[in-house]
Amino acid sequence: MRLLEVQGINTYYGLSHILFDLSLEVYEGETVCLLGRNGVGKTTTLRSIMGLTPPRSGTIKLYGKEVRGKQPFEIARLGVGLVPEDRIIFPDLTVRENLEIAVKKGQKRKQDGGWTIEKIHRLFPVLEARDKQWGGTLSGGEQQMLTIARTLMGNPRLLLLDEPSEGLAPMVTRVIEEQILALKKEGLTILLSEQNSNFALNVSDRAYILEKGQIGWQGPIHELREKPEIMMTYLGV
Ligand SMILES: Nc1ncnc2c1ncn2[C@@H]1O[C@H](COP(=O)(O)OP(=O)(O)O)[C@@H](O)[C@H]1O
Ligand SMILES: [Mg+2]
Repeated sequence: MRLLEVQGINTYYGLSHILFDLSLEVYEGETVCLLGRNGVGKTTTLRSIMGLTPPRSGTIKLYGKEVRGKQPFEIARLGVGLVPEDRIIFPDLTVRENLEIAVKKGQKRKQDGGWTIEKIHRLFPVLEARDKQWGGTLSGGEQQMLTIARTLMGNPRLLLLDEPSEGLAPMVTRVIEEQILALKKEGLTILLSEQNSNFALNVSDRAYILEKGQIGWQGPIHELREKPEIMMTYLGV
């Protein structure tokens, strides 16, 4: 089943035209990556889907229903959770408080399969170890995990991850890779953006490669692995 369907969107910042007739789709249970160099429009694509920078034209459907033009909070309510690039956590709250603050009113309870702090701790043991520490004392990798965990507390059906491995040491990246694979096993649908192709290739089923606000290539990960010239052309790696 198609969870997300983006059709021919055009997104602008003021007069700058950033996304050009961009289309992509994500099926339920898939992990899809949006690859591309710095500045090609990965973040803008995720912001367009979330309604933070609404496209001026095109359609964005969630479970077949048009959502373009809806407010970000409405899109969140429909089951989309965005983990932004800049890892916004509250430095003066403890790790636990950072998680508690993310709980929505009328949130699904544990028996409904919703996320709880206990379930978060099973996936991110380091957050349990840091439970009473201030958010501001966490390392970059821990902050990334806390940001992901906070978004999960809203029980998204589609998780949008903006460059989760950015600025992290390879060892930490590998841990996050495992965590994303665990989320996938849980049945979560994920769309992630990355410049780090290894990381993205290890967790994804399919890829879209963005170039100057347009999709330059799309296909399954095994094809990317078999044809290194594609990566060379679009990503220079
Ligand atoms: N708030 C903004 N105002 C104007 N231009 C922006 C803004 N944010 C990003 N851009 C421009 O939009 C383009 C795409 O940016 P972005 O989506 O952040 O790319 P990526 O995430 O792939 O690095 C870039 O040329 C960038 O300079
Ligand atoms: Mg970006």
